[in-house]
Amino acid sequence: MAIYNREKECQSRQEREIYQGKALSAMVEKVYNNVPFYKKKLDEVGVKPSDIKTVADLKKLPFTIKQDLRDNYPFGLIAVPKTDIVRLHASSGTTGKPTVVAYTKNDIELWSEVMARSFASAGGSSESTVHIAYGYGLFTGGLGAHYGAEKIGATTVPMSSGNTKKQIMLMKDFEADILCCTPSYAIYLAEEMVKAGIDPKKDINLKAGIFGAEPWSNEIKANIEERFGIKAMDIYGLSEIIGPGVSIECEFSEGAHIQEDHFLPEIINPETLEPVEPGEVGELVFTTITKEGMPLIRYRTRDITSLNYEKCKCGRTTVRMGKVAGRTDDMLIIRGVNVYPSQIESVIMELSEIEPHYQLIITRDGTLDEMEVHVEMSETLFSDEVKKIQTVKMKLQENLNSILGIKAKVKIVEPGSIPRSEGKSKRVIDLRGKV
Ligand code: DLL
Repeated sequence: MAIYNREKECQSRQEREIYQGKALSAMVEKVYNNVPFYKKKLDEVGVKPSDIKTVADLKKLPFTIKQDLRDNYPFGLIAVPKTDIVRLHASSGTTGKPTVVAYTKNDIELWSEVMARSFASAGGSSESTVHIAYGYGLFTGGLGAHYGAEKIGATTVPMSSGNTKKQIMLMKDFEADILCCTPSYAIYLAEEMVKAGIDPKKDINLKAGIFGAEPWSNEIKANIEERFGIKAMDIYGLSEIIGPGVSIECEFSEGAHIQEDHFLPEIINPETLEPVEPGEVGELVFTTITKEGMPLIRYRTRDITSLNYEKCKCGRTTVRMGKVAGRTDDMLIIRGVNVYPSQIESVIMELSEIEPHYQLIITRDGTLDEMEVHVEMSETLFSDEVKKIQTVKMKLQENLNSILGIKAKVKIVEPGSIPRSEGKSKRVIDLRGKV
């Protein structure tokens, strides 16, 4: 697959770190002088912008958390005159005010560049037709992908989310070869195609999919690749840092390459806040070193992963992040055992009689958390005898216990009965304190 920006993506680490150090130093100077919030934060820890010269100085800086964005709603963290802001996005958040992110013209260009690199990584070029089914609007998925697809010169279809029948019709008629949507929506699209008598492998021209915005296991990935006969690429990002395009897998699927000339990653222990040993799992933290509108210093993403600095077979030298296991705030503690929904997903997906649709219902009985796993059976199992369904149920209960050490009740439900999502899926229904 083509490498879009060989100079930046294949640079030697030594050269890259010199560049990163300079960009970091300039950014800290800028936010210190232009964002009162950061001036106060740096003064509190006694760090002056002149103390930050190299990447190694990063650890002297204080962290930024989501609450800081909320406290400074809407424009308190903007580092340029408001007249230089050309775009706002916002993340929904379940309660209260959203978190706002602001972009200058150069930020939009930077974002388009990293998304262009992402499309190139998935085999995209001016010959491609890119079908974008991420939502357009305040969510960064749609417009982020859009600008990158146009930058590589692809024919771009700004479909947005929803209206599944029309999505399928247009994907077929326009002969889309790259699909962008959440992994859960990709599965839904494939199911609906089959229902409409369309073979996702033969009747649809797709070659690759750029899927992200939610955690998804390698098992789901294999499932999508099999349904469509495509290469599924994991794309990661978050609004606070830029949107989609912070990292993307290459054809070797051994971690997602972080666009390090713009976003400096670290992994910390979420309890001690100290950097972990190289390769260890912890919370991902990003510092934006080139963004103008709303640069962030050591932003705690809450996403759990690890970093791999080894050179990749594809030729890129950028650091790779492992698949995101989940968010620190999504971790479940079931009778004392810590578990992420994506780990449960991996166990569920091992059974061929089960479809990749599930929900985890969490309740509290006294002081103990209880989990009920609802999974959908395949059409074949549905038409099988009750005894077979019971066997599958017992098998899944056993596997959850032996592989993850959790005791959970399993409920096998009818095909099609778990709600499908058009964007990010809702896998966990937390009823603690509600029933
Ligand atoms: O979800 C941006 C995006 C759009 C990424 C389209 C990829 C594709 P937010 O709505 O701010 O932004 O949500 C960011 O989503 O902190 C992760 O917890 C999760 N996330 C995003 N991509 C992945 C991924 C967009 N590939 C939050 N794997 C992040 C796992 C992901 N989780």
